[in-house]
Amino acid sequence: MPRLDFAVLVSGRGSNMLALERAAREGRIDGRIALVLSDRADAAGLASAAALGLDTAALAPDRGEDRAGYGRRLDAAIRAAGAGLVVLAGFMRILDGGFVQSWQGRLLNIHPSLLPAYRGLHTHRRVLEAGDKEHGCTVHFVTEELDAGPAVIQGRLAVRPGEPEDALSARVQRLEHIIYPRAVGWYAAGRLACRDGAAWIDGRPAGPEVVEEEES
Ligand code: GRF
Repeated sequence: MPRLDFAVLVSGRGSNMLALERAAREGRIDGRIALVLSDRADAAGLASAAALGLDTAALAPDRGEDRAGYGRRLDAAIRAAGAGLVVLAGFMRILDGGFVQSWQGRLLNIHPSLLPAYRGLHTHRRVLEAGDKEHGCTVHFVTEELDAGPAVIQGRLAVRPGEPEDALSARVQRLEHIIYPRAVGWYAAGRLACRDGAAWIDGRPAGPEVVEEEES
């Protein structure tokens, strides 16, 4: 099977993109990042990617452009880079349905909660406010419903008593940097697929897989 060229879409810091780049460089993903694209020209992740010598593109919606038009330009940029998988890593834009459909089964996202709990924003704060004992992050295939596609792998941790939001967020991010490269590595190896509305790993429906935080 040929190596996988994949695109990573970022809007912010890009720490997940860096974790994926490192995993590819170290051979944990049999592939390479063909393009790092951002909807924001000033995204820190774009500068970090360029510093590593990766191909980058800034693609902001034009004034008055609707979601479908932006989706078509996004699609064209990603296809021109030759990518076979799109990896959303903090891309803060809701994607057009046409885009999602044309990348169905080849479009992954990471979300900072144990989905289906806490779709949407401010997940760490909401977990703390609810007094939950468990929290984490989920890699899932993207479907048209926001944060609702089939889950592949979750990173789980125990919320510490009195834990501040920034500390909890940092612990979740450390787990993200473990589970996202693992999921993309499975995909690149042909071990992960999306079929019949479910994620499949090695021919079995994903439970999803679970990675527990190692106590430090
Ligand atoms: C991550 O927390 C991810 O779960 C969410 O956006 C954040 C991106 O962080 N979707 P980074 O830009 O990869 O550091």
